[in-house]
Amino acid sequence: MSKNCAIILAAGKGRRMGKSINKQYLNINEYPILYYTIKAFSQSNCIDEIIVVAAEGEVDYCREEIVKKYNFSKVINVITGGKERQYSVLAGLKAISNCEIVLIHDGARPFVSESIIRNAVFYANLYGATACGVRPKDTIKIKDSLGFSLETPRREMLFCVQTPQAFKYDLILGCHKKINNEGIKVTDDTMVVEQYGNKVYLYEGSYDNIKVTTPEDLATGRQILDKNWC
Ligand code: CTP
Ligand code: MG
Repeated sequence: MSKNCAIILAAGKGRRMGKSINKQYLNINEYPILYYTIKAFSQSNCIDEIIVVAAEGEVDYCREEIVKKYNFSKVINVITGGKERQYSVLAGLKAISNCEIVLIHDGARPFVSESIIRNAVFYANLYGATACGVRPKDTIKIKDSLGFSLETPRREMLFCVQTPQAFKYDLILGCHKKINNEGIKVTDDTMVVEQYGNKVYLYEGSYDNIKVTTPEDLATGRQILDKNWC
């Protein structure tokens, strides 16, 4: 049977948040960030199975305090991630089987919507590789090492990429294995397939689909929740 699977990444250190616990376990209103993230994928009819990738030493905590506590039955496993995000993704990819489409999502993006998830599956089926994102609101400059503006790319050509990023499973697994063997460093998964000449379709995400990164984002997160869920 072919399935759509989601890999939810929670194995980072959350250094920029500057708190003593990993940012994914911090609460926004009454629930931990990771609760909202897993809930979004659990509730989606397009998703059959979920793998959560947790940091070394936090696997049991994640399993007990999030997956079991909130009865997330689509989560088939909580596994240990790696030192860099790309190693956590590869660990997640290796932990699933018989998967047609895989969605890779940051655990720190709790406000992903059902339509964003649905479109990720749709466009990955159509094009093999896709990611959501938004147009930048500011004018973006390219800056030189002395601090001077070098260039102003046309704004309509620019796109701030988010997650989920979704792929045909065989394609992304193959490309991740290759970059791993070749020692190539990437900052997201679209770069992994682009490295080998594959095209990535970019579709519209949402300005609410923020990545909770610094303490200010917790306040923004509360506003997003109050706006959408009250
Ligand atoms: N991530 C991961 N494994 C890593 C690094 C990051 O699973 N080795 C995950 C994070 O948990 C997060 C997502 O990838 O959900 C995006 O990463 P980021 O926002 O940079 O989180 P952290 O790396 O935890 O934060 P920081 O860079 O501030 O330390
Ligand atoms: Mg990081």
